[in-house]
Amino acid sequence: MTEKSANKTKLQIPKLGLGTNKVGGHNLFKNLEDSNGYAVIRQALDSGIQLLDTAFIYGKGRSEEIIGDVLQDYDRSKVIIATKAAQDPSQDFAPNNKPEFLKKAVDEALKRLKTDYIDIFYIHFPDETTAKDEAVAALNELKQAGKIKYIGVSNFSLEQIKEANRNGQVDIVEDHYSLVHRDAEKEMLPYLQEQNIAFVPYFPLASGLLTGKYTLADHAKFDNFTTSEYETIIKALDEVKIIGEKHNATVAQAILAWYMANPMMSTVIPGARVPEQVTMNVAALNVTLTAEEYKTIDNLFADFSK
Ligand SMILES: NC(=O)c1ccc[n+]([C@@H]2O[C@H](COP(=O)([O-])OP(=O)(O)OC[C@H]3O[C@@H](n4cnc5c(N)ncnc54)[C@H](OP(=O)(O)O)[C@@H]3O)[C@@H](O)[C@H]2O)c1
Repeated sequence: MTEKSANKTKLQIPKLGLGTNKVGGHNLFKNLEDSNGYAVIRQALDSGIQLLDTAFIYGKGRSEEIIGDVLQDYDRSKVIIATKAAQDPSQDFAPNNKPEFLKKAVDEALKRLKTDYIDIFYIHFPDETTAKDEAVAALNELKQAGKIKYIGVSNFSLEQIKEANRNGQVDIVEDHYSLVHRDAEKEMLPYLQEQNIAFVPYFPLASGLLTGKYTLADHAKFDNFTTSEYETIIKALDEVKIIGEKHNATVAQAILAWYMANPMMSTVIPGARVPEQVTMNVAALNVTLTAEEYKTIDNLFADFSK
């Protein structure tokens, strides 16, 4: 099958999931407590969240372990576990996409997650040397063996995605995308659409910025944006707040509702540091934006799709 002839059905996943890099991700974030991590996962599952997005590198296995522990008390078959690997501990955590490494990484993740299958396994980052279709072929063997159900890639350029998908075997792509980081709209999303590949945006809340809890005075925390970009964002969020209020919703809930209404997004996986944030974000499922409100939010952040 050529990449043009992919006729598979697009993977259907719940509209809202949970990002878990602050669950056990001690190597990535300061002052995290495992007790909060456990509580975040429990709160998500108790609230009906059925998709957990984790990775080896979140705590070098700790996030997967916490999820595995909690899942012992829940029905495994009702939860979609997405995890990722590539960072090779024996090479100072540089990406490794070699078939032997990926197969070993999946076996180790299965142990930490205390399960016998992973629903979605992503190659977390591309390495510089492995042919991407060869890496995916290794994942396809794991799929045939029942160890993983769907094949994903993350942080791949469009060219790398095309190479990975040479035999039409890529099911899902996770990449940086948010209302303030819209590069994927130009070429990547149309290609994924054409190939029936699901798309998961990461950093949907721009690491908290799009919750509306920051002001102009906090620009230094988000210095990847110029002063003018940052001002545009804060002003736009004031408008989102007004839209949210019409639905008794917070800024974060209105923003999450926007992703859930966007047909290009297969799911949205906001992260949470504490269980209260999970509760707040789950409530976004009750917010249905009108077509006009959806368009207004889209237009408010139009500068970021140029
Ligand atoms: N594939 C990849 O390479 C990759 C890269 C990055 C992330 N991811 C995945 O994508 C997920 C989402 O990204 P992310 O978690 O980094 O960023 P995000 O979803 O944009 O932001 C999440 C952060 O915003 C704050 N927050 C969440 N809900 C809130 C609420 N209702 N009110 C106020 N603050 C709230 C929390 O941080 P504070 O409380 O600290 O403010 C939370 O950790 C990750 O968890 C991870 O699973 C994947």
